[in-house]
This record gives sequence, structure tokens and C-alpha cells, in this order.
Amino acid sequence: MKNLKESRFGKIIKVSGPLVVAENMAGAKMYELVKIGFSKLVGEVIKLEKDCASIQCYEDTSGLTIGDPVLKTGSPLSVQLGPGLFSQIFDGIQRPLKVISELSKNVYVPRGVDVPSLDLQREWQYKPLDIKPGTVVQGGDVIGTVAENDLFKEHRILLPPGAKGKVVEAQPAGNYNVMTPIIEIDENGTIKKYNMSHFWPVRIARPCLEKLPGTEPLLTGERVLDALFPSVLGGTCAIPGAFGCGKTCISQALSKYSNSEAIVYVGCGERGNEMAEVLKDFPQLYTEIKGIKYNIMQRTILVANTSNMPVAAREASIYTGITLAEYIRDMGYNVSMMADSTSRWAEALREISGRLAEMPADSGYPAYLASKLSQFYERAGKVTCLGSPSRKGSVSIVGAVSPPGGDFSDPVTVNTLYNVQVFWGLDKKLAQRTHFPSVNWLTSYSKYENTLENFFNKFDKEFVECKNDIKKLLQEEDDLTEVVQLIGKDSLSEDQKLILEIAKIIKNDFLQQNSFTEYDYTCPLEKTTGMMKCIMTYYHLANKILKEGNPYDNKKSFAYIYSKTKEEFIELTQMKFINPKKSKEEITKLFAGQKKRIEEKFKDIFKFKQMI
Ligand SMILES: Nc1ncnc2c1ncn2[C@@H]1O[C@H](COP(=O)(O)OP(=O)(O)O)[C@@H](O)[C@H]1O
Ligand SMILES: [Mg+2]
Repeated sequence: MKNLKESRFGKIIKVSGPLVVAENMAGAKMYELVKIGFSKLVGEVIKLEKDCASIQCYEDTSGLTIGDPVLKTGSPLSVQLGPGLFSQIFDGIQRPLKVISELSKNVYVPRGVDVPSLDLQREWQYKPLDIKPGTVVQGGDVIGTVAENDLFKEHRILLPPGAKGKVVEAQPAGNYNVMTPIIEIDENGTIKKYNMSHFWPVRIARPCLEKLPGTEPLLTGERVLDALFPSVLGGTCAIPGAFGCGKTCISQALSKYSNSEAIVYVGCGERGNEMAEVLKDFPQLYTEIKGIKYNIMQRTILVANTSNMPVAAREASIYTGITLAEYIRDMGYNVSMMADSTSRWAEALREISGRLAEMPADSGYPAYLASKLSQFYERAGKVTCLGSPSRKGSVSIVGAVSPPGGDFSDPVTVNTLYNVQVFWGLDKKLAQRTHFPSVNWLTSYSKYENTLENFFNKFDKEFVECKNDIKKLLQEEDDLTEVVQLIGKDSLSEDQKLILEIAKIIKNDFLQQNSFTEYDYTCPLEKTTGMMKCIMTYYHLANKILKEGNPYDNKKSFAYIYSKTKEEFIELTQMKFINPKKSKEEITKLFAGQKKRIEEKFKDIFKFKQMI
């Protein structure tokens, strides 16, 4: 054992793509951060065997040679959490890309570049809470606030989890940078100083007091999702879909318009131009709160690890993203994390596993794929945060999955579905017909529907019934389409014809939503509800006539009803053009008026007084 003497340096014995094997690594721990070679490339220990360590390198390994040193840092891969995170774009290991490009004057990230994640010089206006010397404080306590920007007005400064002791000295309000000590705590006789930022290892979930069930919806602004397959704040959603089905569009729409207080958008292994698009688009988008416009970048953190960046860092980008999200959750906010796409991360795992010569499981993915995915999705949820004052926060995860060829039986999709509660399955056929968002209404599901019933009932007492009716209608339409294909449309009864016509409106004018238009880039819940109510009111009234009249009588045919209510029917197809920027009250009023017109028309024409 003598020759296993611990030193801070190991020596490379093998380089295979992103995998580096080094000897003389005794004392290294799993997931310890190491600096490889003379240019100090960042890597993480992923396997230990005797005194050899297998390391996944988060930077391009070309040029490394056998014998190069590997420095053990003694600490795990961590992110720095504190003021200055928002509006930033980081790479997979939380290096600020803008700072790097200014430093290196190059479009590429130079290897081994070591810059702090947060701006260490910038001073923030710190407002402490009233914490007197002698007070006992603990990890998770809010000790003060910083106005990070106009939109994210209250960046709450937290004591890192694990801290506990009596306050010795607390700094007064003032301008400090993230490295200035602002509080001194006596922790069992040792004095510890804390500043406005702290580090947290990315692979360890940040602790919370208690996990809670989600009760409020994650409103996405996409009608098909909000109405038919809603998720909760703190929920887990998967968007599987083949290339070009609209995964990225949905993830981006959610980042722009969902009701989250903060967004962490992780571009993982997808094309670089998509990330460039995000960078170009987001700064031009504004959200309006109480009549004032705020740039949405102010509540957004981007983590970019595009397809031309090192493969292993995809994993780091996912962990970095979720840790950032948890940190904001711990302040007491609702955060959404988008990961586009988790399949690319799984592919990186497969590549590394292959190079480690591990026994492959399904489709060559490592056997631990399932546990990796579940560890990731488990970090979502609504929680009671640690420390005082008492507060709740949530992390919602929306993971895009890109199964090859759109085959949902691929291991990544299957294992993702074990872990998520909401499945927004994208359909290649719909995408080909340019029916966007191409969410398949027959296969998608949400397990939060029952939980959310309470919320929706309060929002509008007809909401749940309308939603259920729409789902039923779509299902019936699917069955009828089969019949029509077999024996033709003429064989259908009049009420079945009505179902087909209304289903057409639901599909074309309700579920379809072109995110590139002025009127449909988002859809407030009031508009979604109003549209559903008008469509279903028309359906129920028309159906009543058909059911209660004689179906063989010409005058009770759908064609007859249509000829009499043409205006109202056409108005149903125009509802989506209502501007989503209108106030909630105005939208509700508009739809109430339209619903009334439909009811009046049916009453007048069919002299069907008792029916309404
Ligand atoms: N909601 C939408 N509204 C309009 N067009 C869409 C929508 N979703 C997707 N598209 C179209 O489909 C294309 C591919 O979408 P994208 O999100 O990049 O697919 P994926 O990420 O699944 O490969 C987009 O460039 C756009 O033209
Ligand atoms: Mg995409």
C-alpha cells in the first residue's frame, strides 16, 4: 500500500474521447472535480478502481497525453449561487459565456478557461432583515434581500443549508459584492463568515423541509395543454417527439409565457442555432405586470451545452440547471426548468458508459439510465423551504425527449414516462399536417387532473365539464372516423355528423395554435375557457335538437341547423383571433356575449324555450 501515497496529482494513463483514465489517484472521491493536464481542463471522477480514476472531461480532450498531471481539487462539481444569476447564459459547468467571449475575443470557449460564475466585483444593494447579534440562525434562513433587477426584485439571500449558530455580527444595509462577508456566526465555538453567495454540489439535491403536493396549475399559454393536459407548479412533464414535431417551440413558449416566477432553460445537446435563437428572441420579449413592461430575460437563466460542445458536459448542464432551479425555489419562488433535450444527455451517458466498457442494457444505454432519470425528475416538486421566514417554492421540470424516428418505445422515453406525471406526446402525423402544437390528444395524459379540479372549479364552474366533454367528443370522433373510412360518411346519423363537425372545430380552431402569430403566441386561461364554453354550448344545443327531434325528418338534420345558425357557427372558428393582450375582464366579457348570442339564436329559431 505504500506506493499509493496520496498526492494532489495523478497521472494520465489513457485518453479516450471525453474519458480520461488517470493513475495515482488514491484519495480521490466519486464525483470529485479534477483539473486535467497542463491547460487544467475540468473533469469529474466517475469511477474509481484501486488507485485509478476514470474521469469524464467537460472540455475537448485533444492534445492531452499520457503522463500529463491530473489535479485533485478535493471538492465536488459545484455551482455558485447568489445575486447576478439572472439574464446570464452559462455553459454546462456554470461558466458565464459572455464574460468568456469578451476575455478571449473568440467565438469559441478556450480550453481550461477559469472565470468565476458570478461577477465578483459588482456591488449589490443589500438590505438585511432584522437579525440581531445573539439570534440563532440556521441553513435556509433568509438574512436579507437584493434587488437583482426590475423584474426579479427580491433576490433573497439565504444561509447555506448546514449552517447553524448564533449571530455574532451582521452587516448593515449597504453596497457589497458577492464575496464580502455580511454575517458572522458562532458555530459551536468557531466563527464562520458568510457572504451573499454560496456553493452547492450539483449532484446533491438541495434539502427542503417537506415535499408538498402541487395544487396550482402551471399555466403554459398553450390551449391544448392548459385545457386538456394541465400540469401543476412543481410537476414533472415530458415532451417526447420526433425531430421537427415542435419540442423546442413548446419549451420556448413555456419559458416565455408560463406563470413561473423564474425560468432555467437548459439547451442540452441540441443545435447551436436554437440557443442562438433564444438569445436573440428573449431579450426582445416583455411581460407586462401591472401595466409596466419587463424584459423576460430578467427572470431567465440559460444553460447552454449545444451539440458542438463537449458531450460529457451535457450531463453537467442538466445538473447545473436543476441546482440553479432549486436555489431559486429555496427563496420561495415557483421555478420552471426546461431541458431540451434529455435524450442527448442519455446519449452522452451511453457514450461514456461504452468507453468505460460497461455492460450495455437496452439499445446500448447503460443499465443505470433509469435511476439517473428518476434522480433527476425527483428533484422537481413543491416544497416548504428550509429556514425562516416560512415560505413555499416549487420546481417544475419539463423535459423534451427526442426518440429516434419518433419511436416512443425507446428506452429514454419509456424510462422518462415512469418518472413523469404529465405526458405531452407529439405526433409526427399532426406535425406533417402543420397541426401545431402537435400534441396527440388521444395518447397524451396528465395525472394531475383530479388535483387541479378544485382550482378550475373555482376559476369557472363549467371548466371541468367542458374539458371532459371535449375529450369525450374527440374520442368519439376517432371511433367515427374509422367507421367513415370503412363504410362512408352517409352511414352516419345526424348527431354523429354533428360530432364530426364540432370535433373539426375543436381540432382546427381550438387545439391548433400557431405560436408565430400575433393572436396565438400565447393564450390566457380566460380565452381558453371562453372558447371551450362557446364550442360546447353550440354542440349541446344542436345535439339537443337532433336528439329530441326526429332524426329522419329533414328539418332536424345537422345541415338544417347549420343553415340557420351559420353566423354563430362561423364565429366559433374566429374565436382564436381575439387578442390575448386584452384584459382578462374584457376577454371574459367578449366570450360571455358570444355564448349568449348562440343561446339566443337557438332559442329564437327553434322555438325551443324549455331547452335553455
Ligand atoms: N406551436 C407551433 N406553432 C407554429 N409552428 C410550430 C409550432 N411548433 C413547431 N412549429 C414548427 O415546427 C418547426 C420545428 O419545431 P421544433 O420545435 O424546432 O421541433 P423539434 O424541437 O421537435 O425538433 C418549427 O420551426 C416551426 O416551424
Ligand atoms: Mg428541438
